[in-house]
Amino acid sequence: MTIDLLPKKKGPKISKYLYGQFSEHLGRGIYGGIYVGPDSDIPNENGMRKDVVNALKQIKVPVLRWPGGLFADTYHWMDGIGPKDKRKKIVNTNWGDVTENNAFGTHEYFELLRQIGAEPYIAINMGSGTIREMAEWIEYMTMPGESPMADLRRKNGRKDPWKLRFLGIGNEAWGGGGQMRAEYYSDLYRQYQSFVPQYDKDHPMYKVACGPSEDDYEWTDKVMKIAGPFLNGLSLHYYTLPAGEDWVSSKTSATGFSEDLWWKTIKRTKKMDEIVTKHSNIMDHYDPEKKSDLVIDEWGTWYDVEKGTNPGFLFQQNTIRDAMVAAINFNIFHKHADRLYMANIAQTVNVLQSMLLTDGPKMIKTPTYYVFDMYKNHMDAQRVDGFGDVPENVSYTASQKNGQLTISVVNYNLDGSEKLDFDLENQFGKVVSATILTANKMDAHNTFDNLDVVKEEKYEDYQLSNDNLSIQVPNKSVITVVLK
Ligand code: AHR
Repeated sequence: MTIDLLPKKKGPKISKYLYGQFSEHLGRGIYGGIYVGPDSDIPNENGMRKDVVNALKQIKVPVLRWPGGLFADTYHWMDGIGPKDKRKKIVNTNWGDVTENNAFGTHEYFELLRQIGAEPYIAINMGSGTIREMAEWIEYMTMPGESPMADLRRKNGRKDPWKLRFLGIGNEAWGGGGQMRAEYYSDLYRQYQSFVPQYDKDHPMYKVACGPSEDDYEWTDKVMKIAGPFLNGLSLHYYTLPAGEDWVSSKTSATGFSEDLWWKTIKRTKKMDEIVTKHSNIMDHYDPEKKSDLVIDEWGTWYDVEKGTNPGFLFQQNTIRDAMVAAINFNIFHKHADRLYMANIAQTVNVLQSMLLTDGPKMIKTPTYYVFDMYKNHMDAQRVDGFGDVPENVSYTASQKNGQLTISVVNYNLDGSEKLDFDLENQFGKVVSATILTANKMDAHNTFDNLDVVKEEKYEDYQLSNDNLSIQVPNKSVITVVLK
């Protein structure tokens, strides 16, 4: 099948923030997974695991959402600053009722961002916090001059303000974030956002309001109607639950699943397209000029926890099936690049669809991690559209940047392989790199004893001739080819 790509016709920019991450105080997502403290035997810099930091640098994480999730609505930032031995201990009531010692707080978060080169995205506490608490936290982080909070920041060792642009006001306000009705939330959002101080005049705060869960179009309609003019981004949460719509009973094992569950997972993932389309249509009604964006600040697979682990810690394995889910989602995100500005996979380390899993000093890169690596060339590139038939159960995306064309293809069939021919409009005559992620078994995954069962490898089964790139795509695989 031939696909005619149209690189001369410039498509919308694919925001780099679509490759964002989310790390919550949840299980071993932060503690053990990212932060081990400066006294740990695990190699670290200022308490951050070096192996994890290096792996995250490699995939060029653009933005990291923190501190939750549900946790954000019980988090009081003042508990997490100052000398560590004086920090207040709290109970993490959302995630396993474990004691949280607040060793990882605002300063540690910005130190992590410095090490991995990512921008902050702070979720403020609207559920059990106050407007004053929010305003003082922003003052603490961003006020350059003299002020009570800026002085406190300096006392705690940080002279200069940090740069903060992304601010989430309300997490799942329709559920665990306060069980609010859309009307009440929208009014409260309007009130909160009007007290967000703007000390850095050059970088206006980008305010994200709590948007819908999945296909709750009514929520989107009401929030856009009431609060639309006061927001920059509207968040959407959509998880891939393998067996369907039922939140609790539809979860299944991350490994050892049936073919039927493979296909149910794929179907559920592809629904992202319909969901984004319909929410975007509602936003178009209130904001036809697309001044505001859709921000998918939680997405990914959600299975049963690994046997023997704390059910409140959401620790799950990650297989080639998760790699399919990631690639299908990215292809959908690119399709909606004119409205989608950010997405944050849940979550970076040891929680849900993670990039990395750790066990003491050991670390695994997951199949999902490799998809992020293989797609990173698409960040801030211009989408390249094409026309022509695509085989069933295959999807692709293409973009161009700095004279390079990047084509990524996913084939989520369980058998056979598919040949795709791309016509390149006489623009690109040389392959710069080509990589593949594939596996024989549909639940192939890496373990702490066998780190490299699934990994990105050099791909050679392509031909480039007469302006045509022909690639053979095996089942259960993701391929990225970069040309110039
Ligand atoms: O990512 C795990 C949880 O899922 C988040 O804390 C919450 O926002 C969502 O329900």
